[in-house]
Amino acid sequence: KIQPVILCGGSGTRLWPLSREAFPKQLLNLSGDGSMLQSTVERLNGRGASVELVAPPILIGNDEYRFLLAEQMRQIGVKPAALLLEPCGRNTAPALTLAAFQAAEEGSTDPVLVIMAADHVIQDAEAFREAVAKAVPLAEAGRLVTFGIGPLGPETGYGYIRLDESDDNCSFVVERFVEKPDIETAREYVASGQYLWNSGIFVIKASVWLDKIGQFRPDILAACQTAFEAKTVDADFVRPGRDAFAACPSDSIDYAVMEPLTTQETGEVMVVPLDAGWSDVGAWSALWDIGDKDGSGNVFKGDVIAVDTSNTLVMSDRLVATVGLKDAVVVETPDAILVADRHQIQKVKDVVGQLKASG
Ligand code: GDD
Ligand code: MG
Repeated sequence: KIQPVILCGGSGTRLWPLSREAFPKQLLNLSGDGSMLQSTVERLNGRGASVELVAPPILIGNDEYRFLLAEQMRQIGVKPAALLLEPCGRNTAPALTLAAFQAAEEGSTDPVLVIMAADHVIQDAEAFREAVAKAVPLAEAGRLVTFGIGPLGPETGYGYIRLDESDDNCSFVVERFVEKPDIETAREYVASGQYLWNSGIFVIKASVWLDKIGQFRPDILAACQTAFEAKTVDADFVRPGRDAFAACPSDSIDYAVMEPLTTQETGEVMVVPLDAGWSDVGAWSALWDIGDKDGSGNVFKGDVIAVDTSNTLVMSDRLVATVGLKDAVVVETPDAILVADRHQIQKVKDVVGQLKASG
């Protein structure tokens, strides 16, 4: 049985002012037809989904979002297997470890986990499901499978996967996994044509993950085990022990396991190429990238009057008029407005930093 695990704990500071600590980006309805979390769940658990034997999803995110998570699942008519609630963020490796323990309690012995980030857009859900169907037998055979994306440029925010040999299933052994290289290295990788981006979506058997995290980070496994044993259960809400989880070291799946495992050259990490219009909506520029553009390359959500405006993203509830704007991002909310150069949009996180510093 396939067990979806949805990681929804990030706060997404680069989508300020729409994403806030109280309302992270994966819960925003940016496209108008549901939040990214809802679309993520529906990719495998929704009506159109054809992958057979998919269990209800396990969601894992911060305790503060519990009502938003529950409400968004209710809206799409999905009853999750569990809402795992972290008292604090410890990054994705501990989150997945808790989810693997939870999955073992959901009935089927040693399910294959399909681990998905809640803040990705995938335009072709059918192609995604086909890729999952390819990955599942590999995971059943004990491999750690990720999906690889043809790189669009030397993005430093991603993991890079170097391919080794191909097998007849169009999947590849990963020779090297490099998480978030510097810009020089990323340029080299992209130019070589031998690397794919790591999508951050993994297919791994629960027991295999627990085995690997125990091998590379026994401290994380031990802290999560203690926290899971101390859990309290309140309907769908599952809360690991607060103190034990707070004492858990912070690390990502990529740094904790994927990168060190590939340096051992055991051939256990595999990649299935994914060509499904994948995008990590990490920043406003990504929304412009994937948005429907008018003849001047503009993406407008809301009422906009544009004069001499091109390649610009505007999101607003109120009427916005732009004159002579190029490559800009304008986001209007009831209590804050962002006006930025689209090419410097990653620096929005500095705005959030300054806001936090000034309390
Ligand atoms: N439950 C929980 N708890 N979820 C978390 C936590 C946490 O502490 N931290 C992050 N997440 C969720 C985020 O909401 C997101 O959905 C997912 O886990 C991935 O975390 P990111 O912080 O967005 O990771 P990243 O984008 O820097 O890097 C990962 O994704 C890239 C592709 O988007 C890596 O896997 C890269 O290798 C990959 O290229
Ligand atoms: Mg991300």
